[in-house]
Amino acid sequence: MNKLLKNFMVVGFAVIVLFNTRGFNARAVQAPYGLETTIVTSAISLNGTDIYNGLRGQSFNEDWKFYEGDVSEGQNIAYDDSSWEDITLPHDWSIFNTIHQDSPANHHGGYMDGGVGWYRKAFTVPADYKNKKVFINFDGAYMNSQVWINGNFLGVRPYGYSSFEYDLTPYLIYGGENVIAVRINNNQPTSRWYSGSGIYRNVWLTVLNQTHVDYCGMFVTTPSVSSSSAAVNVKTKVVNQSDASKSVTLKTTILDANGNTVTTNTSSAVKINASDDNTFKQDLTISNPQLWSPTSPYLYLAKTQVIVDGSIVDTYQSTFGIRYFTFDANEGFSLNGVKMKLNGVCNHHDLGALGAAVNYRAIERQLQILKAMGCNALRTAHNPPDPQVLEVCDRLGIMVMDEAFDVWETGKNNLNDYHLYFSEWAQADIQAMVLRDRNHPSVIMWSIGNEIQRPLIATATNLRDWVKDIDITRPVTWACNSLNGSTNQAISNLLDIVGHNYFPERYDRMHSRYPTWKMLGSETCSAVTSRGIYKIPAVELIGRDSDFQCSSYGNSVNGISIAEKSYRDINSRSFMAGEFVWTGFDYIGEPYPYQWPAKSSYFGIIDTCGFPKDIYYFYQSRWTSEPMVHILPHWNWSSGKTIEVWTYTNCDSVELFLNGVSQGAKIVDDSPHLAWDVPWIPGIIQAKGIKGDTVVYDKMTTAGPAAKVQLKPDRTSITADGKDLVFIETDITDANGVLVPNATNTVTFSVSGQGTIVGVDNGNAPSAEPYKANSRKAFSGKCLVIVQTTKTPGSIVVTADSSRLSSASVTVRSIVEEPDTMVKN
Ligand code: GAL
Repeated sequence: MNKLLKNFMVVGFAVIVLFNTRGFNARAVQAPYGLETTIVTSAISLNGTDIYNGLRGQSFNEDWKFYEGDVSEGQNIAYDDSSWEDITLPHDWSIFNTIHQDSPANHHGGYMDGGVGWYRKAFTVPADYKNKKVFINFDGAYMNSQVWINGNFLGVRPYGYSSFEYDLTPYLIYGGENVIAVRINNNQPTSRWYSGSGIYRNVWLTVLNQTHVDYCGMFVTTPSVSSSSAAVNVKTKVVNQSDASKSVTLKTTILDANGNTVTTNTSSAVKINASDDNTFKQDLTISNPQLWSPTSPYLYLAKTQVIVDGSIVDTYQSTFGIRYFTFDANEGFSLNGVKMKLNGVCNHHDLGALGAAVNYRAIERQLQILKAMGCNALRTAHNPPDPQVLEVCDRLGIMVMDEAFDVWETGKNNLNDYHLYFSEWAQADIQAMVLRDRNHPSVIMWSIGNEIQRPLIATATNLRDWVKDIDITRPVTWACNSLNGSTNQAISNLLDIVGHNYFPERYDRMHSRYPTWKMLGSETCSAVTSRGIYKIPAVELIGRDSDFQCSSYGNSVNGISIAEKSYRDINSRSFMAGEFVWTGFDYIGEPYPYQWPAKSSYFGIIDTCGFPKDIYYFYQSRWTSEPMVHILPHWNWSSGKTIEVWTYTNCDSVELFLNGVSQGAKIVDDSPHLAWDVPWIPGIIQAKGIKGDTVVYDKMTTAGPAAKVQLKPDRTSITADGKDLVFIETDITDANGVLVPNATNTVTFSVSGQGTIVGVDNGNAPSAEPYKANSRKAFSGKCLVIVQTTKTPGSIVVTADSSRLSSASVTVRSIVEEPDTMVKN
C-alpha cells in the first residue's frame, strides 16, 4: 500500500458540522498537519535529509545551535556560534532550568526561568531551488520570536501560540550555505501557567513550485449530510507567484479510509495572472457517507492536484470528516442527530517532564489516557494548541473547543502577557488559528477568550467577525466567570454559545433570563487533589496544610466533593451542553491553593506523570459503561483508626470485603460514590461490583516494608526514529509486589542501548527536583522515567536502582517502521 495512504489510515480524520439555528451548515477539514501538500519535483536532499514527495513541508528540526542569553549581531551569517549548544527542535529551555523560589516566572509559571535565547541553523540550499518558492513554517515559538535569514529580518511574532510562515525565497543563497537565526524573548513573568521558552513546536521547510496551493489554502466543508449522501465542497486557493500567467486546472479526488477513490472532480481551466490568485470551488458527493464521531472517528482524504500545461505542479491533501452537530438552548448538544453531553476537560499545553516541547507520542498518550476515562471533549486552555493535538483528537474522536486568548486589552496578574500585543496582533492571531485548524473534524467551536478582564463589546464583536470571515461552520463562544455583569451579558448575546466558568448557581438564572442562550460549562471544578494522599476525615475543605498536599478524597463543600457536585449540576440540566473540567492533566505552574515550594497544579484528574488520581475513576464511572469499580484509600494505616472507604463505580451494586468478611453491600443510587466506615486491620480490602451478569473487583492490600523496584513500560516496542518515547511507570513495592503507598525512595535510572532519558517525574507538586535528571524520589510509591529512542533500531535496557531495594530492569525494542508521512515531531 502506498505510504501516504497507509499513513492516512493510521492518522486522520476530518470534520463537518451542521449547525442548526443560524444557518450554519458546516463541515470542515484539514489534514494531519504536514500532509497537506506535495512537492512534485523528485525527492531532493537538503543537508542529507530526504524531502519526501508528498509532503508539504519537510522537518526542519535538526542541527540547530542554541544559546541561553542575549547576544548582539546573532542574526549575521558570520556570527561564530561554534560554542553554542547543539540541539534538536522542538526545544524548551526553561524545563532544563532549576526550579527556584526567586524565579521571575513566580508561582504562576512554575518557578523556572525564561528570558532571552537564540537559535541558529546553517543549511545548504541546492542551486536548483532557484525556480522554487521556499518557506519556513513555525508551529509556534514562545514568545516574541524574531526571525532572520542571512541577516535579513523576516518578522516578529509576539504570541507564543500562533503558527506562522515566512517566505525565504528572495534572500536565499542558492547552491550555498544559508543561516536562519531566531531570537526569543520570554520576558517573565509572561503567563499564568508554565509557558516554556523557545522554539517548542515543530519547524518545517516547504519547497514549492511557483504555482501552488496557498498556505492553509484548502477548506473542505460538507454543506449537507444525510445517511444516503454528503455534499462536499472544496475551496482551494491557488497562487501564481511566477512572472507569467498560467492556465490552471484542479483535479480533486476524495479517498475513503482504505485509500479507495470515492469521487473525483476536475475543474475547468482558469487563467491566473502573474502574482495573482484564484479560489477554485469544487462540489463533490459522497454516497452513504461514514460519519465522524467519538465512537467512530472516520476520516476521508481530499487530494487536490494543481495542473499547469498538463503537469502536476502541486498536490495538497487534507483529511476531513463528515459530521453535523447542533447546540440547542433547551436540549443541549447533539452530534449526528444523537443527543449527548460534552464530557470534556480543559488542558494546558505542557507535557510534564518534557515541558512545553511538543512530542507526538506524549500528546497521544495524554489523549489516550483521557479517552479511556470516557472523555469526549477537550478545551485548549487558553490558547491555540500544537497542530498535533488536533490531529490526534481527529484520530481518537475527541471534540475540541479551540481557544484563542486568555487576555484581550487588559492583562492579568501584572504579567507581561499578551495584552501588550493584543491590539496590534489579535486579528492576525485569531485568524491564524481558524485558518490553520478549520479542517479538523474534532474542532466543533471557536473560543475567543477566557475570563476576559474589562472586556469591550467592540472587541468581542471584532473577534467574532474575524472568526466568521474565515469559518461560519462552527459556533463562536467564550468562557466567562462573571455573567452577572451587563457588559458580559451583552457580549454573550453576540456569541453563538455561552460558556460558564464555575458558578453553577447561575445556570438556571441565566437560562430563564436568556432562554435563547445555548450554554455549557466551559470550566467546572475538578477535585484539587494530590495523588495517593489521604486526609481523614475524608470530607473537608482544602486548607493550607504544612505538607502542601491536598487530600485524594477531594475538595468538598457540605459533604459532597466539588467534582461530583459539578457533574450533577451539568447532568441534571438538559439545557447544559456539557462540561469541561478544570483540568484533565496537572500542569506546571498555578499551584493553587499553595505557592512555593508547590510549583505545579493540584487541579488535574491525572498528575503530571500521567498517573490517574482517584477522581479519574469518578469520571470513568460517569462517562463510561464498561463495568468498573475503584476503591480508595490505600490500606496502610494504624490499628485503632476507622477508615472511610469509598468506591467509584458504574455497577448496580458494590459489596465490600475486609479479609474476606463482608462489610455490607450497597445499591448504587444516584450517589456519586459509595462509602463505608471500616475499623482498620491489616490485610485486603476489596470491592466487588456487580452489573447484570458481570462482576468486577478492585482491592487495596496492606504493604510490608519497601523491598523492590518494579518497572512497567507503557509499550514494549517503539519506533527507532529519535522521537518516539516509552513512559516507564516505576513502583516501590514490598517483597510481594504490593505498592508501598507512602514510599519516597529515590530511584536512579540508567539506560543502555538505543535510548536516552529525557525526563523524570513523580507528580509531587511541592518538589523542586529537576525534570531533566536520571533520578527521582517516589511520591506515594511511584515515579516515572521517560526514555526516547535513537535513530538506530535495537534494544533499550532501562535499569532502576534504589538503595537497599532490589533493582529492576526492563527491555524495550526499538524497531524500524516504514518512514511515516504522519507528522511526528
Ligand atoms: C479559572 C481560570 C483558569 C484557572 C482556574 C484555576 O478561573 O480560567 O485559567 O486559573 O481558574 O482555578
